[in-house]
Amino acid sequence: MTFEETKRTGTAEQLEELLSSDVYIDNLEFWERAWSGVKAPYTQLPDLAYLTRIPDTLKQRSVRSVLDLGCGTGWLSIYLAKHEFAVTGLDISRHAIKLGREWAEKEDLDIHFDVGDIADMPYPDGLFDAVVANSIFEHFPFEVARATLQKLKTVLIPGGTFIGCFDKVGGGPGEYFELQDKTHVYTDKARKGMLLRYYNDHDLGQIFSGWKVDIIDELDSGTRFIVAFS
Ligand SMILES: C[S@@+](CC[C@H](N)C(=O)[O-])C[C@H]1O[C@@H](n2cnc3c(N)ncnc32)[C@H](O)[C@@H]1O
Repeated sequence: MTFEETKRTGTAEQLEELLSSDVYIDNLEFWERAWSGVKAPYTQLPDLAYLTRIPDTLKQRSVRSVLDLGCGTGWLSIYLAKHEFAVTGLDISRHAIKLGREWAEKEDLDIHFDVGDIADMPYPDGLFDAVVANSIFEHFPFEVARATLQKLKTVLIPGGTFIGCFDKVGGGPGEYFELQDKTHVYTDKARKGMLLRYYNDHDLGQIFSGWKVDIIDELDSGTRFIVAFS
């Protein structure tokens, strides 16, 4: 189903209701609050088993332009720009993007950073060869994840590449209530507004409908590393 088709179905109404709900808005505000305490970007690369597979896969696919979804302060954008990809980073947090811009400038890297909501991506069709999404989708309710993956098919070139990881989440401490789709909405002081949802294999099959999923590797941590083509 394309994003436009999704909009014409009942799920489109659910999606619009969700995106304008207090739950969703509180979630966006959570991220700005969470990032506001960070004074400088953490410039160490995270210790991820799949890290080098990201540029390797992009190179195998002759990718040039990459969208880093939910880039935070931009470690993955910086890492990929150092591998000579043309990178755009998108994040909802103004402060995280400000830190990402400062970091890129220090490294003398030409990275384009945008502040914006992934659920409302401001990009024309076919702008990117690939998208990377590290630890992002588990922060979205099911319909937002599904619509975003459908929308991504349009901002990528036909046959474009998706590389992402979906973390195993939901078992940790904290107070929350559950939405009908099993998304946890946190209510304790530290994480008030944050959303977490675990995507099982069945869910992944649904949100990647219409994609050609090439790799789903489950790591020891339970994180799934996914490569798919639009
Ligand atoms: C767990 S962090 C991951 C950050 C980065 N990708 C990484 O690997 O460190 C989730 C990121 O998604 C961003 N985010 C959450 N919801 C978003 C939305 N609706 N639109 C854009 N960014 C969003 C947050 O601000 C945060 O930077």
